Formats: sequence, C-alpha cells, structure tokens
Amino acid sequence: MARIEGFRVRNYKALRDVTLGRLWNQRNEEPLSPLTAVIGRNGVGKSTLFDSFGFLSDCLRLGVEEACDARGRGGFERIRSQGVTEPIEFNIYYKEDNLYPDL
Ligand SMILES: Nc1ncnc2c1ncn2[C@@H]1O[C@H](COP(=O)(O)OP(=O)(O)OP(=O)(O)O)[C@@H](O)[C@H]1O
Ligand SMILES: [Mg+2]
Repeated sequence: MARIEGFRVRNYKALRDVTLGRLWNQRNEEPLSPLTAVIGRNGVGKSTLFDSFGFLSDCLRLGVEEACDARGRGGFERIRSQGVTEPIEFNIYYKEDNLYPDL
C-alpha cells in the first residue's frame, strides 16, 4: 500500500505555499502520520487543503481543464491564487510498501 509522507501545494486559492509532512529533499523532517488534524481560524484554507487533494484526483481522472471547472470550482483563474502569475503546483512524496516482495 502507498503511504503519503508529504504534500506541497503552491498557488491553489488561499494556499500560496503550504507543505505538510516531508518531501523527497527533506528526509530529516517528520513524515505525515496516518492521522492528521487540520486546525486553523476561519478562512485560512482548511477546506481548500482538502479540496486540493480532490482537485488533484479530478485532474488525473478527468484532465486538468475539466477539473478546473468541476465541483463549482469556476475555472483556472478562480482557483489560482489571486495576484499570482505562476502555475498551480503540487508535490506528493509517497512510499510504496512491498513493491518487490520476492526480491
Ligand atoms: N483564488 C483565490 N486566491 C486567494 N484566496 C482565495 C482564492 N479563492 C478563495 N480564496 C480565499 O480562501 C478563503 C477560504 O478558504 P477555506 O474555505 O478553505 O477556509 P476554511 O479554513 O475552510 O474556513 P472555515 O473555517 O470558515 O471553513 C477565503 O478567505 C477566500 O477569500
Ligand atoms: Mg472550511
């Protein structure tokens, strides 16, 4: 089974640059644990963080253009962080257990 150790979102709505856990070049940081609680004041981007996983999933399932419009997201210019001209960017660092059990 794959386990996500880290996730980075850039320029997705209110999330300008957010990293959870550790990425491939941060091996000394703590990885995400199996249970993660997200706490923060109203409007800080908690729901957006969860939707970023949904958006990524929709991108892979439906294609990027359709994902931008799906679930009332309203298109690319609505979901890219306001005032930003850089692309929306996601990094996922995950480990697959037991890929080659016979080796
Ligand atoms: N394209 C965008 N660029 C920048 N900020 C955006 C963009 N789209 C939405 N936002 C902002 O994101 C915020 C809403 O984020 P979100 O709904 O994820 O917050 P939340 O932490 O879940 O809040 P609550 O506790 O009220 O549920 C709003 O402040 C809104 O202005
Ligand atoms: Mg919310």
